[in-house]
Amino acid sequence: MKADLRMESIQVLRSVSALREFVALQRGKGLRVGLVPTMGALHEGHLTLVREGFGHADVMIATIFVNPTQFAPTEDFAAYPRTQEDDIRKLSQTGAQAVFCPDASEMYPQGFSTSVSVKGVSEPLEGESRPHFFGGVATVVTKLLLQALPDVALFGEKDYQQLQVIKRLVIDLDIPVKIIGVATVRDRDGLALSSRNAYLTQEQMKSAAVLNRVLFDMADQIRDGGDLGAIRQAGMERIMAAGFDSIDYLEIRDASTLMPVDGRNNALRILVAAKIGKTRLIDNVAA
Ligand code: PAF
Repeated sequence: MKADLRMESIQVLRSVSALREFVALQRGKGLRVGLVPTMGALHEGHLTLVREGFGHADVMIATIFVNPTQFAPTEDFAAYPRTQEDDIRKLSQTGAQAVFCPDASEMYPQGFSTSVSVKGVSEPLEGESRPHFFGGVATVVTKLLLQALPDVALFGEKDYQQLQVIKRLVIDLDIPVKIIGVATVRDRDGLALSSRNAYLTQEQMKSAAVLNRVLFDMADQIRDGGDLGAIRQAGMERIMAAGFDSIDYLEIRDASTLMPVDGRNNALRILVAAKIGKTRLIDNVAA
């Protein structure tokens, strides 16, 4: 097996061929393989995905790759935290057996010209605010899934629209992988864990914690039969009053297509993206 480095018992794989060899070896032993794609800067939310993975697979592989194609030129690609040694240490403590850390030339070799574009579910919400985003995510996730061909891959519900996009592309492209969504991990104030929370000041953290309370209250009001438009409007007002600088969207949508709803026959999801200072936070809850 070609592992470039060993940290405790975790195998650190840097090439697609080393990844494939590792997976083939596990398969040869009759073991089920799970994959958790990440961009590093790991927090409890990511580690929970790995731990949950052990409920579905014998061998867990995480990937760490800060994917340039999902950042717009104006976004924080260069500034995105790169904490690989620390990340690998945290992963090894979960019992993950391998981590795939390719560099950009391994993922996007010279002449790379293909992209995966998922229509429909990737178009509203994040698709409108960050038009380049899902093309980059869909392309890199397709590659990671085809490179590893795991039995299962786990993604957080925190990035709820991303999860729906990935479920769609796996069906459409016949990728033989089961996609598992895992509930958002929150801090004790209910704030959804995110690498971007590290950018928040103490004061901003207090405001940020209001976001999830607004969403859970909206979900209660929807279940009580309130008017969707009025609930949404009151939610926007509370978010702005809490100290947010702007709201990209706050929407009550069909939980799987993310399209607007006219009745209550569908399972609903409330999704928000809002900025506080320079930090953009997203969250969502079921309604
Ligand atoms: O959710 C993320 O961290 C990224 O979008 C993903 C799925 C690892 C693709 O780069």
